[in-house]
Amino acid sequence: MLAPAISPSLMCADIFKLREIIDAFEANGIEYLHIDVMDGQFVPNFCLGTDYCRRLKAGASIPLDIHLMVTEPEEKLKAFPFGPGDFVSVHFESASDVTGALNAVRERGAGAFLAINPNTPVEAVKPFLPLLEGVLLMTVYPGFAGQKMTDGSLERITALRKLLDEAGRPDCRIEVDGNVNYEKAPLMRKAGADIFVVGTSSVLGPGDIDENIRRMRGLLAQS
Ligand code: DX5
Ligand code: ZN
Repeated sequence: MLAPAISPSLMCADIFKLREIIDAFEANGIEYLHIDVMDGQFVPNFCLGTDYCRRLKAGASIPLDIHLMVTEPEEKLKAFPFGPGDFVSVHFESASDVTGALNAVRERGAGAFLAINPNTPVEAVKPFLPLLEGVLLMTVYPGFAGQKMTDGSLERITALRKLLDEAGRPDCRIEVDGNVNYEKAPLMRKAGADIFVVGTSSVLGPGDIDENIRRMRGLLAQS
């Protein structure tokens, strides 16, 4: 089983405390920074952009985990700064040219992830497996923080892990994104997830951030 990693969703971070939040992430060995990019077309919301990513790369040592919730990602990803060590998720449902978008990510040395919405069958990832470092399995419909996990999400994680293992890809990562709270994270871990996007439901919710991270780490280590 792949070691668990935490990827805090920066759209949930208090912008007035961002420097201290990033410092806490670095002090606690947080593995990735989850950057939700929304263009108001693929999802009915707007969110973090290219300049935000550029400043993060300049001011933080943690690799980026860029979640593109955009139409034509094969075009729009050109504007973003990413490279080796980072990874970029392209939505199966959004790309006119999924393969082209995934290859464009790989050509820059970053990891390519395919994101699938709750209503997309996990089997949709099969044709893309040779290109993928991971799958971003959405446990909410993308676009807004603070939602509840969609029914059947745990079963989907289990089914996806089984599909990947049977396809000879036990190395392929499963990232979960949406309502990853202290009660559900261990269940998601048991089902086969290994990268956890944490937002308002846990690490970037109420309480001391160092304590929240320690609590999440402890729960993921036990499962
Ligand atoms: C949903 C976002 C997430 C996540 C935020 O589009 O991608 O980052 O839902 O975390 P929660 O769900 O805990 O507020
Ligand atoms: Zn996300």
